[in-house]
Amino acid sequence: MITIIAGTNRPNSNSLKVARYYQKKLEEKQIGSEILSLEQLPHDFLFSDLYGKRSEAFLPIQERITATEKFLFIIPEYNGSFPGVLKALIDGCSFPDSFFGKKAALVGISSGKYGNIRGVDHFTGVCHYLQLHVLPLKLHISYISKEFNENYDFYLEDTLKFTNQQIEEFIRF
Ligand SMILES: Cc1cc2nc3c(=O)[nH]c(=O)nc-3n(C[C@H](O)[C@H](O)[C@H](O)COP(=O)(O)O)c2cc1C
Repeated sequence: MITIIAGTNRPNSNSLKVARYYQKKLEEKQIGSEILSLEQLPHDFLFSDLYGKRSEAFLPIQERITATEKFLFIIPEYNGSFPGVLKALIDGCSFPDSFFGKKAALVGISSGKYGNIRGVDHFTGVCHYLQLHVLPLKLHISYISKEFNENYDFYLEDTLKFTNQQIEEFIRF
């Protein structure tokens, strides 16, 4: 199973729009996937599901993570790194079985100039600690609000080229 994680709980996030775009492109290639937006986390997640606790509300999310073989993380740049809520998800998931030996592709996005290069690097370090194998082709999409057409699809030539290439490699990975 493939799970696309939109790496923020910010309402109306660009991360979720990018996650939907990737899901649509995978669907066009007959590859099914599910989106996990961090908006779906229980609202008291930081207190209900860390340090050995497990809430009823988080169970379906943990089950989905456990069943996933390949993850695609959409990672927005927050203060020069990846969002704290994404690290909280990782810390709250059961260890080591949630991510150990599995595969992941990473896409950084930002409203600024750098496409979350540093945050994707930080997150790659976390993945390596978890022994979650990272696809070498990582994308960094900057000025994200200029990237979408009216259907929230990418349309710029370079972005189409590199997202297509990453999707192909993710399928083969
Ligand atoms: C808490 C916070 C911190 C942010 N820090 C940065 C930043 O360091 N650099 C940047 O280019 N954009 C920054 N942004 C803007 C996001 O990159 C922007 O919201 C973008 O749309 C991706 O995030 P989203 O999925 O929340 O929409 C920040 C946004 C938030 C909410």
